[in-house]
Amino acid sequence: MERLDKIVSKAGAVSRSDARGYILRGLVTVDGNVVRDISLKVDPKLQEITLNSKSLTYKKYCYIIMNKPKGVLSASDDKWAKTVIDILSPVLKRRNLFPVGRLDKDTTGLLIITDDGDFAHNLLSPSKKVPKEYLVTLDGKIEQSIIDGFATGLTLKDGTMLSPAVLKKTEKSNVALVKIVEGKYHQIKRMFGLFDLGVNELKRTSFGGLTLPDDLEEGQYREVKEEEMKILMDSVSLKSYS
Ligand code: URA
Repeated sequence: MERLDKIVSKAGAVSRSDARGYILRGLVTVDGNVVRDISLKVDPKLQEITLNSKSLTYKKYCYIIMNKPKGVLSASDDKWAKTVIDILSPVLKRRNLFPVGRLDKDTTGLLIITDDGDFAHNLLSPSKKVPKEYLVTLDGKIEQSIIDGFATGLTLKDGTMLSPAVLKKTEKSNVALVKIVEGKYHQIKRMFGLFDLGVNELKRTSFGGLTLPDDLEEGQYREVKEEEMKILMDSVSLKSYS
């Protein structure tokens, strides 16, 4: 159950104060009856709500998949820099969306954005060991000793011990695929830094078993599809979502 003004605001893509205005002016019905009580608790899954005679489809939470472009911060809000939320449409900006975890400003690729705190918490929980895959372009060659080091489990310079990671070569001697199950600050860059290799390009290609769709260009985003949602839920063993 949620307050009627909240539901009308989210489902009707209007501000909370506009939603209140519409309700007070008698433009909102619940199960066929005009309701003027903005704080009435309604179950949008069971009750039919209309605004201006149009049925509202209400989604409690929103899940967005974005191909994060370079030069944009993975944050909800920043005084100076453009954030991933700034890229979203005005309707989406009205929701309290935030990115699930962080990619560096110069990293591109798969980023999930949501307003579902529990879901995000699960995906970020270290105990869930959610897999993340990156395509990395380095400023040097990938030697077998590096692959072996990643597989054994590295210890970062500050003493942080990492779980074993998978490092796979590609046809290019300086381009690799890396799979990790943690999300430490600058983790990939620090892992290669242990071998005196610098990261020139970093792109996240997969998160929680979900692969970045080929047709999602840098800077583009869309709602996570039902089947994609299942993949993410499976990665953290959640049974259902709102
Ligand atoms: N590791 C990094 O170093 N940077 C990222 O953005 C993600 C993982």
